[in-house]
Amino acid sequence: MNDHDDDAKFVEIGDEQVQQLRDLAGLSAQSAVLDVGCGYGRLAHALLRDPDFRGTYYGFDILPKHIEWCKQHLADHRFRFGHIDILNARYNPEGQRAPSSVRWPVRRRSVDVIMLASVFTHMWPEDITHYLRQCRRVLRPGGRGVATFFLLNDNWRQAAAEGRTGYPLPYQLNASTRYFREDDPLHVIAYEQHWVIEAVESARLRVEHVQLGRWAAGGGEAWQDLVVFHRQGREPPPRLDAYEARLSRPLAGQGADGT
Ligand SMILES: C[S@@+](CC[C@H](N)C(=O)[O-])C[C@H]1O[C@@H](n2cnc3c(N)ncnc32)[C@H](O)[C@@H]1O
Repeated sequence: MNDHDDDAKFVEIGDEQVQQLRDLAGLSAQSAVLDVGCGYGRLAHALLRDPDFRGTYYGFDILPKHIEWCKQHLADHRFRFGHIDILNARYNPEGQRAPSSVRWPVRRRSVDVIMLASVFTHMWPEDITHYLRQCRRVLRPGGRGVATFFLLNDNWRQAAAEGRTGYPLPYQLNASTRYFREDDPLHVIAYEQHWVIEAVESARLRVEHVQLGRWAAGGGEAWQDLVVFHRQGREPPPRLDAYEARLSRPLAGQGADGT
């Protein structure tokens, strides 16, 4: 592939990600978006090109070169990028912090939409369960996330038996985890669908939708499988006693009788 094809693919997949967030996760013009493992800012690039998007975006990654590039090329007052030096045997083997010890630098209940595109496909199971708990912490009630996976399910078993998958997964880590390369398990790591659903639910999120991807002849448009999760509930109303206390205070510049 030449550079032009690479650029075209970068743009095409970015646009596809925005469409997924609109269709499946309620992305709106005003959304606060969190992009975990943002890489070279493919989603940010697409959101910046989208004339309908006037919300905010925060993307973080474990590789400084990605984040430097994003800061240089995707600067916008509504967009922020951050680097956290997290260990990943494939991407950042010298990383200082274990993924399961990291609290994302994002306020609780501040995010409408989370994207994890091609990130859980490179992470160990215990780190995924921690990241899902972080998703729950930062999502607003009613907010949603889209995470891509390689899901092991009956569809995959059938496709694998017929040799119709993007990768063979000959190696097994445990009953619910398989991988492609013995020397580099995090290159492509796949999880049983029931394990993923249980991990989402034990983070007190709800799986709303699963869309099977082309990698295992699943029929969806995307290559990887998509799992959409939801933090249920509504923002709690402001506490009534605080509201009443505000009302009983005289307004600035007015006397207690309203004059
Ligand atoms: C295949 S790339 C996908 C990048 C981007 N999401 C996209 O769709 O273009 C995987 C990214 O996940 C990042 N990553 C790996 N482990 C991570 C972790 N524990 N936390 C955050 N990002 C991670 C890598 O540095 C890399 O940029």
